[in-house]
Amino acid sequence: MRPLESRLRGLARRASKGDFAYLRARLGKLLWSEQRHVVLRRDLLATSPAAAARGRFTLRPLQPGDLEALSADLPAHQMPEIEKREYLLRNGLRGGHVAMLEDGRPCFIQWLLTASENALVKELFEGSLPEVDADTVLLEGAYTPPRFRRLPIMPAAMARLAEKGRDMSARWAIVCVGDDNPSMMKAAELAGFRPHELKIDRLRLFRRIVTHGEPALSG
Ligand SMILES: CC(C)(COP(=O)(O)OP(=O)(O)OC[C@H]1O[C@@H](n2cnc3c(N)ncnc32)[C@H](O)[C@@H]1OP(=O)(O)O)[C@@H](O)C(=O)NCCC(=O)NCCS
Repeated sequence: MRPLESRLRGLARRASKGDFAYLRARLGKLLWSEQRHVVLRRDLLATSPAAAARGRFTLRPLQPGDLEALSADLPAHQMPEIEKREYLLRNGLRGGHVAMLEDGRPCFIQWLLTASENALVKELFEGSLPEVDADTVLLEGAYTPPRFRRLPIMPAAMARLAEKGRDMSARWAIVCVGDDNPSMMKAAELAGFRPHELKIDRLRLFRRIVTHGEPALSG
């Protein structure tokens, strides 16, 4: 199923369930909204202390059943986070990875994306993510179920995932973080990323206008 068809079906499903609050919010966003993201970047030639954390988890490519395992015992309000990632998977986005605890449970998911995914990424994320050059990988879709937060494994897993970019001949790894997401910002910085630019997405009557600026320097 193509992403647009999949999205329209999703909207139709919400409408059939009478979820008009969601539909109103979605329409409002498409008509007039603004989102600010910090693009953080990591030089993959430099080492990250977070990546050195060992023993408590392994990182491996996403396998069938991982999303179900991540959603076990998840509070209902967190399910949209799983649904977003199911949507990426259903539409063929490759590069998903999970951090596995020693007892075999996945505790964190994130995608490692290369330039070959640019077209699909553009379609799936409606142009809200930057396209990457061949020397850059993009990390996206980070999610830790609440019961696994602050272990802390996620910054180390993210650092290790970024470093897989070296095997793909990348020099840089980037990640886009909403400027209202301090946990992710801290985790990215612990994983060796530094603010690189500010990206402002304005949606005006269904049209996306992107501008770039200097990021505010963190702490
Ligand atoms: C963002 C998210 C992935 C972070 O995952 P997490 O497993 O909670 O990450 P961690 O707890 O290991 O690290 C983040 C927090 O721990 C702290 N931390 C982790 N390791 C640390 C260390 N060695 N020293 C100091 N602080 C540390 C971070 O500073 C941060 O603190 P805070 O959330 O209490 O402010 C998770 O909160 C999530 O899934 N959120 C919803 C989805 C989302 O926002 N995804 C990001 C899209 S860009």
